[in-house]
Amino acid sequence: MIERTLSIIKPDGVKKKIIGDIIGRFEKGGLKVVAMRMVHMSKREAEGFYAVHKDKPFYSSLTDFMSSGPAVVMILEGDGAIAKNRQLMGATDPKKADAGTIRAAYGTSIEVNTVHGSDAPETAATETAYFFSDIERFTY
Ligand code: CMP
Repeated sequence: MIERTLSIIKPDGVKKKIIGDIIGRFEKGGLKVVAMRMVHMSKREAEGFYAVHKDKPFYSSLTDFMSSGPAVVMILEGDGAIAKNRQLMGATDPKKADAGTIRAAYGTSIEVNTVHGSDAPETAATETAYFFSDIERFTY
């Protein structure tokens, strides 16, 4: 089934100058970029994005990190895009990520883990809507 999912290249990925490599992995992996923008989230915007984690002990540190520099937000489209993106990213903790995945290659810690991807159709819908309006989403 063709799906759309939110992807974020986090501030560590942007600072490492691996935007091109990461997008290349998505494109070679069968995912198409159908919306894209660079954003420097405010602390409040990061808190809104990660609101589901507001009671977690890492919420404050995670939202500090996500608002520490520019990030690239994208919508990726493809057959089974949500799972495919998660496969290409690897496990949340880079130490546990399979060899060949983005987080295994570039992640620093469970928090500074280079990329974010939606985990289910419902979160993909809310997360893509958080950053993109209808006219910013393309078909090609
Ligand atoms: P992400 O896919 O962006 O979704 C939630 C983020 O919270 C996750 O990646 C990690 O960056 C972060 N996270 C999850 N678990 C922990 C943890 N135990 N400690 C610190 N950060 C975490």
